[in-house]
Amino acid sequence: MKQETANAAFHVRDIPIHGKIILAPMAGFSDVPYRALCRAYGSAMNYTEFVPADALLGRRNPMWNKLNIKEGESPIVFQIFGNNAQTLLRAAQRIEELGPDIIDINMGCSTRKVSRRGAGAGMLRQPALIAETFSLLSRHISVPITGKIRLGWSDEQRNFVEIGRILEDNGASLVAMHARTKKQKYDADADWDAIAELKQAVTIPVIGNGDVRTPADVNRMIAHTGCDGVMVGRAAIGNPWIFGRQSRGDLQFSDIASAMRLHLREMLSYYGNPHGLILFRKHTKRYFLRIAAKKIISALVQTPDSDEFLRILDRAETAVPPHTSIHHLGCLHEGEWVID
Ligand SMILES: Cc1cc2nc3c(=O)[nH]c(=O)nc-3n(C[C@H](O)[C@H](O)[C@H](O)COP(=O)(O)O)c2cc1C
Repeated sequence: MKQETANAAFHVRDIPIHGKIILAPMAGFSDVPYRALCRAYGSAMNYTEFVPADALLGRRNPMWNKLNIKEGESPIVFQIFGNNAQTLLRAAQRIEELGPDIIDINMGCSTRKVSRRGAGAGMLRQPALIAETFSLLSRHISVPITGKIRLGWSDEQRNFVEIGRILEDNGASLVAMHARTKKQKYDADADWDAIAELKQAVTIPVIGNGDVRTPADVNRMIAHTGCDGVMVGRAAIGNPWIFGRQSRGDLQFSDIASAMRLHLREMLSYYGNPHGLILFRKHTKRYFLRIAAKKIISALVQTPDSDEFLRILDRAETAVPPHTSIHHLGCLHEGEWVID
């Protein structure tokens, strides 16, 4: 029985997904605080960072922390990777107890360490392993099993249609595709025609991914490919407004400051103080992308004191002329609105 079917954009088996824009899994970024922020701004479904299946078999270790979730965070997808179907099954059985809505197998990671061992994008070269993994997991795990893939290993080995069909035939409930090959890593334009081709080839929902930077891109990808959902990765860092289809350039500085305060609060509550503040520094730089404010940024990323951080942010907010869009601020010269 499908729950709350009305108003769902699509379903992952019986799980309704209320929206089309989804935060991509990103190691080092999609942690509990950032997912909470993106959820608040409209991400319809969140993935954890990927976790190696073999680290989930023995005693609890720090890798397990990547599967922490905030109370009420749903739908949440736990993402794991490995190169052995039995190991992936045992890991999935263990983590199922932690309450994920969905378990996803990463078949897209292009880093040498992962893919050369036949895990991540390395799985794309082993269709039989993919079939075995999904057949085992979909029979023995009660939550839906999904896969995140790339176009293939290389231009000569673009097998995403074959892999999509294998996933579907072996019980996968959704396929997300980053429309580049393993060899392309993050270079070259994402091939949205391929997402359209995959959508035509399977009946399970398809999430398109790659090169979505603006709300207009979201609409363009949906129109171009017919995909059920759009996954946003790098363009969502420092820019959670994309989930509400708002352009960052149209915002005012007060919008940025509000998101930063909420994000920092989540960081401090999850990681503690000042660790959460230190980890927040990489996000601070991204919130200030294309805003002419070198002095403010350097003051924000240097202070070890979260109260001081908030004071600097307050002063910056007061210094910015009201009703000034971020687009306009980006055009200002350094010094036109500095603190003190
Ligand atoms: C820093 C970083 C970490 C990533 N970590 C993961 C991961 O853990 N699992 C995964 O499936 N993809 C991971 N990816 C890939 C993204 O999910 C996404 O497929 C890719 O960035 C393309 O989307 P984009 O153009 O919207 O960024 C990562 C990407 C980046 C930039």
